[in-house]
Amino acid sequence: MGDTTSTPPVAELASATLTDDAAAGLALKHPFSDRVPIRSIVSRPDGGAGLAGQRIRVGGWVKTGREQGKGAFAFLEVNDGSCLANLQVMVDAGVVEEGLGYLVATGTSVSVEGLLKVPPEGAKQKIELRVEKVLHVGPVDPAKYPIPKTRLTLETLRDNIHFRARTNTISAIARIRNALAYATHSFFQENGFLYVHTPIITTSDCEGAGEMFQVTTIISEAEKLEKDLIKNPPPSEADVEAAKRVVTDKAEKVDKLKEAKAGKAKIGAAVAELNKGKEALSKLEERAKLKPGIPHKDGKIDYAADFFGRQAFLTVSGQLQVETYACAVGNVYTFGPTFRAENSHTSRHLAEFWMVEPEIAFADLQDDMNCAEAYVKYMSQWLLDKCSDDMELMAKLYDKVCIDRLRMVASTPFERISYTEAVEILEEAVKGGKKFENKVEWGIDLASEHERFLTEIKFQKPVIVYNYPKGIKAFYMRLNDDSKTVAAMDVLVPKVGELIGGSQREERYEVIKERILDMGLPLEPYEWYLDLRQFGTIKHSGFGLGFERMILFATGIENIRDVIPFPRYPDEHAILIRRQLGLKFMNTPSSTSLLNRQAIILLKYKMARSIRKLGNVVNGKPRTRLLHSP
Ligand code: 4AD
Ligand code: MG
Repeated sequence: MGDTTSTPPVAELASATLTDDAAAGLALKHPFSDRVPIRSIVSRPDGGAGLAGQRIRVGGWVKTGREQGKGAFAFLEVNDGSCLANLQVMVDAGVVEEGLGYLVATGTSVSVEGLLKVPPEGAKQKIELRVEKVLHVGPVDPAKYPIPKTRLTLETLRDNIHFRARTNTISAIARIRNALAYATHSFFQENGFLYVHTPIITTSDCEGAGEMFQVTTIISEAEKLEKDLIKNPPPSEADVEAAKRVVTDKAEKVDKLKEAKAGKAKIGAAVAELNKGKEALSKLEERAKLKPGIPHKDGKIDYAADFFGRQAFLTVSGQLQVETYACAVGNVYTFGPTFRAENSHTSRHLAEFWMVEPEIAFADLQDDMNCAEAYVKYMSQWLLDKCSDDMELMAKLYDKVCIDRLRMVASTPFERISYTEAVEILEEAVKGGKKFENKVEWGIDLASEHERFLTEIKFQKPVIVYNYPKGIKAFYMRLNDDSKTVAAMDVLVPKVGELIGGSQREERYEVIKERILDMGLPLEPYEWYLDLRQFGTIKHSGFGLGFERMILFATGIENIRDVIPFPRYPDEHAILIRRQLGLKFMNTPSSTSLLNRQAIILLKYKMARSIRKLGNVVNGKPRTRLLHSP
């Protein structure tokens, strides 16, 4: 024997791991469950073959199942969502009392224990599980289960949103989404950024575009009161008068007792009676004041009576709040849900989406662009390194070039052009015969078709456009010396168009105050934001990356509704009714008018009624989304 301390007994250890059932089972087992995730078997370089002989438990859902050998045994392809690949599971008829037919339907859940074995030569699988014990079965009636073996379109899957994560595509997207979230934290943490949680309920409109969803209890309170007043009508004037008389009588009684110098106990009892009467009267008077409907003052809704004592909204961006931390602790980022009530029924917009927003202290627009580029590259490389199976599925089913695109983005410097140069390029293209639906001229907000022309056709790689006209950008962007443009930047990428929007922030108090007023925004909700410019102001910059758009870009999936687990978007049916009612969608500040909100209540009622009537079917399709989706 040689020196046992200088070289570790690698071969010995490896063979011990493979043959020692208990130790190996322990190593594979999930730490918080009695099962082994299928990924830890099939994603090994040997496809799991080296684990042959081990006794394990797995749990998952049957993708496909077939009985064979005239019902003597069954093969199940089981998937537990830990990876794309299934584990082949073989069950003998003798093991299941209910019969093999009970196990084979697609969607059936199974928890089984058995021995891993190398299948006979010629089989596709490197390893399979021979079942010895069936621990649990969650059966499925194939006639009723909405996710068949055959592939459904992504649109159809949206109608079964609670089951769609059981499909290969949606579970692969979930893993890619998870990987991108991990990459995000990893990138910012590695670069010394602090993760800050910004609020979801806010009073300030970050983008100043009036696209906020209102947070209020005023409508539900009014509805409750209406119901209550129907059940218990308010007291009439006569009731109040009668109660007043009772109080007067009781007061007189007290006076008389005092005059007659009655005993303390008698007077005390009469005073107590009087107080009771006064209390009853005051309650009656309070109730008599109650009026159905939303409270008003000076012709406007009285938000002083609302939950927060003022108007409040769901945030459109965490930027304003995260800036307060950047201006105190340096480099920070926030990553959370944001909400926009835009009338955008497109494949790139959601009403609820997630945004990653870093904010860098003592940084200008160049630093901001450098950070955005490094971050997108980092995420692209992360997916290449860690999600190859899922990315291959995307390439096979949705976008042949998605992996090449990630490689290109990870390794190629982004193009950087000013807005003015971008418009010149687009004008040249128009001269050369290119047709755009939207007119091209200096001052326009670039439309998606323009952005995609720049990134997909002209440069064929990500493009950062910077220095936009001030008129089309938010109030907080730093005014450039030309007084016409602001230090804004958008990162445009193939497949998506705008992936990131960012800017250097206006740090000069007088300038930003002017910009807020120029844009017709009220100063009051931004006072604390202005304070940052009054006390210890610094140069700083940041951006927001639309997280779902990053997933679209990575996977090549066409519709943003398929890359977020529970998409929230405007209901087409509601838009139709709103049009019939002559209402715009909630994308103007005036949309908070009473008329609009009353119409929304009416609309909810009408929809609920029509849905009841239709038995949850609209235009021949089951209704899902918010109404009865999770
Ligand atoms: O360009 P936006 O509006 O920028 C901001 O909100 C800044 N306050 C960010 C910052 O500087 N901290 O939005 C940022 C990104 C867009 O580039 C787009 O990718 C995404 O958010 N986005 C949406 N994604 C899905 N659905 C919508 N309705 C979106 N609106 C914007
Ligand atoms: Mg933008």
